[in-house]
Amino acid sequence: MRTKTILRVLGLSALLFTLFMRAPAGVTAQPNSPGPAGGEKKAKESATRRPSGFDGVISSNSQRMIEQGRQIFRFDTFGSEAFWGDTLQLHKAIAGEKNGGVGGGVSPKTALSVGLKVDADALPASLKQQLKEGKVNLDDPATTLALLKLNSVVGVTGYFDQQGNIRSMGIQCAFCHSTVDDSFAPGIGKRLDGWAARDLNVGVIVSLAPNLKPFTDLLGVDVATVKKVLNSWGPGRYDAELDKDGKAFRPDGKQSGTLIPPAFGLAGVNLHTWTGFGSVPYWNAYVGVTQMHGSGTFFDARFNDKDQFQVAAKSGSGNTRGKPDLVTSKLAALHFYQLAIPAPKPPAGSFDTEASTRGKEIFNAKAQCATCHVPPLFTEPGNNLHAPGEIGIDSFQADRSPTHMYRTSPLAGLWSHQKGGFYHDGRFANLAEVINHYDSVRGLKLTEQEKHDLIEYLKSL
Ligand code: HEC
Ligand code: HEC
Repeated sequence: MRTKTILRVLGLSALLFTLFMRAPAGVTAQPNSPGPAGGEKKAKESATRRPSGFDGVISSNSQRMIEQGRQIFRFDTFGSEAFWGDTLQLHKAIAGEKNGGVGGGVSPKTALSVGLKVDADALPASLKQQLKEGKVNLDDPATTLALLKLNSVVGVTGYFDQQGNIRSMGIQCAFCHSTVDDSFAPGIGKRLDGWAARDLNVGVIVSLAPNLKPFTDLLGVDVATVKKVLNSWGPGRYDAELDKDGKAFRPDGKQSGTLIPPAFGLAGVNLHTWTGFGSVPYWNAYVGVTQMHGSGTFFDARFNDKDQFQVAAKSGSGNTRGKPDLVTSKLAALHFYQLAIPAPKPPAGSFDTEASTRGKEIFNAKAQCATCHVPPLFTEPGNNLHAPGEIGIDSFQADRSPTHMYRTSPLAGLWSHQKGGFYHDGRFANLAEVINHYDSVRGLKLTEQEKHDLIEYLKSL
């Protein structure tokens, strides 16, 4: 049944692709595309023809990579069920005692309250109707299991035995880097791939696991301490370096998780993550193998540094050779797909256009924002890193990365991830705080009007 639906979806996108390739030149041409007029004319001509020869090979390859990458991003667990289900037994906490698990179980209401999302397109029409009529029990963990059976919980896959009992679970990239558009109900709607899951409370979800031994063993602390750390992050945050350096809290006692960034608008950007660990495929291998606990290969000798990465130098996770390797073969398509996800445009009316036009001028000139956030990438072409002092903040998180630097955040689509605040740890609650920070550390002497206009511009990106 599901295979059929997937085939139908693939068939439909192939059709759309054909139509797109045949669309009149005016529709596909970029209004601002640079280059000599002759080149533009040629590009227009070729856009109206179906590419042949090796051009055709490139076109069909690109389409196939996007489709494969989308499947991987949404549905591939990389074998992570061996960790989340088989080892941590998280599925048992979700099921609850009545359904063969442990404890009270996780109802759909609870699941939605910790930020899990439901893909409305995966729900059969009959179930949607029942939901609309309020006939579905959202307080019953059995309903959560039914939603998992339908593969409708974004970023989580449940595995069921022949009797229909849940036996394991794994997670996907979409868990942290997707949300839904709430078009059916709050938390239930169409998938928005690449959007940062700022409602998702990863720590609270993981802390439900009946077996936290892998964490207590790795970090050399007791269960209570592991739970304290997991509960410290809050919604939209996760600590992707904890298993490397064991730094569970900042020296000032605050939590040490970072905000989940978007995985859209990445094309053209050199270094990724808040602290510029590496490229997109570098980080995808890092996360797939060392964070999601999929089975695969991850190599980075920088983690052998005992002083910086106490835990990793001991565990050897900088040279992980999981067998079978379920990650490496996915990296190319996964990379391709992420590069294809554009930053979403802000909804009409969500910012003041006149103020934003004035704000653009200030961003590019008086406030000197564009020297680092170079438009239209809004990060530097080149080595897009800065020492903590250059942006006037402490080095705690930078020092958890081999770079000891902060990466200039690409700003396109900023409007879509305002929840949780700004900068790597959300230290600035809103854009006004960000601007006031720059105003004081960089001595910009912005007027209140200029600050206001700058904010409207940031909301327009
Ligand atoms: C448990 C939540 C979680 C999961 C699952 C997850 N990520 Fe992330 N992702 C994060 C966090 C947190 C960061 C920021 C890490 C940092 O800067 O230290 C991040 C960073 C990234 C970045 C860098 C974005 C930028 O701003 O340059 C990309 C790309 C990315 N993740 C893609 C993926 C892909 C692809 C997968 C699946 C293989 C994945 N992530 C799985 C939480 C997650
Ligand atoms: C010296 C280079 C530099 C300059 C100049 C600069 N920024 Fe940044 N910006 C950065 C870096 C680096 C970060 C990432 C900080 C972090 O990771 O905590 C950042 C982060 C941000 C963020 C947060 C993005 C997010 O996803 O949370 C915003 C918004 C921002 N800058 C806006 C501006 C504005 C507006 C100006 C001008 C007033 C400006 N920046 C000037 C380097 C710069």
